[in-house]
Amino acid sequence: MITGKNIRLRAIERDDIQRFTRWINDAEVIKFTSLNFPISNAMEEKWFDRQLENVPTQGQILAIETRVGNQWVHIGTCDFHDIEPVNHSAEFGIMIGDKEYWNKGCGRETTKLMLQHGFEDLNLNRIYLYVLTENSRGIKAYEAAGFVKEGILRQALYKNGLYNDVVVMSVLHSEWKGFES
Ligand SMILES: CC(C)(COP(=O)(O)OP(=O)(O)OC[C@H]1O[C@@H](n2cnc3c(N)ncnc32)[C@H](O)[C@@H]1OP(=O)(O)O)[C@@H](O)C(=O)NCCC(=O)NCCS
Repeated sequence: MITGKNIRLRAIERDDIQRFTRWINDAEVIKFTSLNFPISNAMEEKWFDRQLENVPTQGQILAIETRVGNQWVHIGTCDFHDIEPVNHSAEFGIMIGDKEYWNKGCGRETTKLMLQHGFEDLNLNRIYLYVLTENSRGIKAYEAAGFVKEGILRQALYKNGLYNDVVVMSVLHSEWKGFES
């Protein structure tokens, strides 16, 4: 378990699958992601089984939970993937699927916790992400956690009937200011 002030990150459980299916079939949630086709519970179950084969140091999907009173509520997922052992780099991904929890700082705190996990537990040197230029909410949350813009991949993602520009953002271990920054 990776625990912050209002967010904790845990391994995903089979019981989470129905929530995952609901979130990734919600057009508003996936609007700024590369997902663009309907997904069934059965497809998600197969995906879940494949995740169990992964060694955590080679990439792991984590469930995001936030504190509500005395309870922890599951609101989304985040992960590192494409972890490269020679380059010590990894791509970060995040989805807060429960829209009730958007714009409450959950994305920012999750991103900060994942930077700490990536640098201090996984010994990463460069953590990067791809985000659509139109995803202002995401860009703001990532910048608040320490990511900087590296450049733009022009018309790199076909989504919502358009070729969309994609921003590459990253944080290097040497410039990371620690969790509380
Ligand atoms: C993108 C995402 C991770 C951000 O998490 P979040 O918890 O909603 O974001 P936070 O509350 O931490 O920060 C968002 C910031 O953007 C601001 N914001 C929201 N909408 C905005 C807009 N249209 N333009 C500019 N800023 C905006 C918020 O006010 C907040 O800034 P503040 O902390 O200074 O008030 C989350 O909304 C999400 O998962 N969305 C759906 C899936 C997705 O887009 N994933 C990312 C793919 S790269």
